[in-house]
Amino acid sequence: LVQPVILCGGSGSRLWPLSREHYPKQLLKLVGQHTLLQDTALRLAGVGQGDGATLVAPILVGNDEYRFLLAEQLRTVGVKPAALVLEPMGRNTAPALTLGALAARADGADPVMVVMPADHVIQDAAAFQAAVAAAVPLAEAGKLVTFGIQATAPETGYGYIRRGAALAGSTGFAVAEFVEKPNAETAQAYLDSGEFFWNGGIFVIKASVWLAKMQQLQAAMHSACQAAFDARQADADFVRPDKAAFATSPSDSIDYAVMERLASAAHNTGEVAVVPLAANWSDVGAWSAVWDISPKNEQGNALVGDALAIDTKNSLVMAHSRLVACVGLDDVVVVETADAVLVASKAHIQKVKDVVTQLKAKG
Ligand code: GDD
Ligand code: MG
Repeated sequence: LVQPVILCGGSGSRLWPLSREHYPKQLLKLVGQHTLLQDTALRLAGVGQGDGATLVAPILVGNDEYRFLLAEQLRTVGVKPAALVLEPMGRNTAPALTLGALAARADGADPVMVVMPADHVIQDAAAFQAAVAAAVPLAEAGKLVTFGIQATAPETGYGYIRRGAALAGSTGFAVAEFVEKPNAETAQAYLDSGEFFWNGGIFVIKASVWLAKMQQLQAAMHSACQAAFDARQADADFVRPDKAAFATSPSDSIDYAVMERLASAAHNTGEVAVVPLAANWSDVGAWSAVWDISPKNEQGNALVGDALAIDTKNSLVMAHSRLVACVGLDDVVVVETADAVLVASKAHIQKVKDVVTQLKAKG
């Protein structure tokens, strides 16, 4: 059994003004017809055809606050989730995945989970599905499988994976080292070495293996999640773990809480594997990344909605509620919404998160 588990909590501040606290990135339509969550839910549709694996309906783990949006966005693309698990509060991805694994095991099954963040763009679905097909047998054999993206810049917001020995009979490799969010100098050294992938944030792990690792490495998190899940309330639409029990869980990510612990330079258990993923992956962390992946005209402009560009090059112009016209601009991002407009140069696009910081400070 292949069980998709979609992590769709979290919010992003770098795509302001489209992403808001009450409307995070994964619920936005950034490229094409679907939101990132919808694309994530549809991305696995071809898995399991012909290779013996059976794909089952996804489990979603997300915030209580967005429950109707989550349910509605899936419904409109015809995806009926196996469970929509609502965290009473955010405790980061390790507890979120633990709830997902408990839900996956609830009826006694022990599927291979394909854990997917809902805020990525993967343009080559076939390549993604091939990588999943390569990862599933490794996970069946007890490995915790990561997906390695070719690193192209010294990004400090990613995990880094050093490739070890090739695994026999597989396109995967052992992971010699996993380092989450290194500093800039270290990231540059990793990039220069040519031995490191970026961690794609997608994991393929058997549910029982994840739960055993949590019990072994993060006992307090594991027992809080187990207690919260045991005391859950469930109706036809939502599964609600117990709030008081979940509140006692420490907060940490999959990467720090488990992956680094199993594959650091000092201590490596050989249990983590990596499958290379070349599928036009992007975590769309900034507006410049949205421009990168958008269809563009001959002048290199990505024009969305009622947008007009004259003597303008290499720009992203998104009009949501009014006509937007740009004249004589290069390398800019213009995002118009009903109550806020962003005009920024692409070279300074990472600073958009400072807008959010300043707005929060103002109250
Ligand atoms: N359900 C739930 N609950 N989901 C969450 C929570 C939570 O508390 N926190 C984050 N998420 C979701 C986010 O919406 C996102 O889809 C995904 O989990 C990953 O969380 P991020 O907070 O975006 O992680 P990151 O970007 O800093 O780092 C991860 O992704 C990188 C690639 O994009 C790591 O896995 C890195 O190693 C990796 O390189
Ligand atoms: Mg992220």
